[in-house]
Amino acid sequence: MTRRVLIAGNWKMNGSLAKNALLLSELCNGMHDFAGCEVAVCVPFPYLAQVQSALQTSSIAWGAQDVSGYAVGAYTGEVSAAMLKDFSCGFGLVGHSERRVYHAESDAVVAQKTLRLLEVGITPIVCVGETLDERNAGMTETVVARQLSAVLSVIEKSALSNIVVAYEPVWAIGTGVTATPAMAQQVHAFLRGQLALVNVESAQKVRILYGGSMKPDNAAALLQMEDIDGGLIGGASLKSGEFLSIVAAGR
Ligand code: 13P
Repeated sequence: MTRRVLIAGNWKMNGSLAKNALLLSELCNGMHDFAGCEVAVCVPFPYLAQVQSALQTSSIAWGAQDVSGYAVGAYTGEVSAAMLKDFSCGFGLVGHSERRVYHAESDAVVAQKTLRLLEVGITPIVCVGETLDERNAGMTETVVARQLSAVLSVIEKSALSNIVVAYEPVWAIGTGVTATPAMAQQVHAFLRGQLALVNVESAQKVRILYGGSMKPDNAAALLQMEDIDGGLIGGASLKSGEFLSIVAAGR
């Protein structure tokens, strides 16, 4: 089964109007001939309008890095899925490890956020991944299965093919240490097996991205693996040359 590769940038808390304008124009100019690959950037909330206007005539999609688990109401500081839809977001990250760790997001909260995005037709990119201690304790599969099943247990079976999963081992994020293609493939295959417990056919369609120090020099080897259907790129998504090289590897 060939799934269309998705390369998504996660800008995290970086950027400014001026820096974004430059990066976005470099991305648009460099995006010729990447027909085989879907590309997106997930940006800080205040820049959604800028990104929408800069990318609306390009083939690059955009999205947010988080969303409220609530639909509407008295939740100061929160941003709803409907608001993201107003800016034509195609994607929304949920459950990034930096949200889980710094904002104490539980599996249940991540599941609610996923539901909110699905309700408005935005594709959730559900992030899962183990810490180094968990890996060393042989807990990788237990941890990612728990994180994923919290989401799978609340969504409609028919919505399964509308999600994207991102495997991001915490120890590989921003560290320059990446999982080897074989290590990542093993977890991706396990995750696909978990998806197949819900629906075998849809599980084949779900894209499972790898994230964690994906760079131009390791992207091709990772993307070659059977169950690695794209990448979620942090640091390298802030440099147009590096990001476009990764996109080229995903073609
Ligand atoms: P790095 O690519 O900087 O390791 O970040 C990965 C990540 O967290 C993407 O969401």
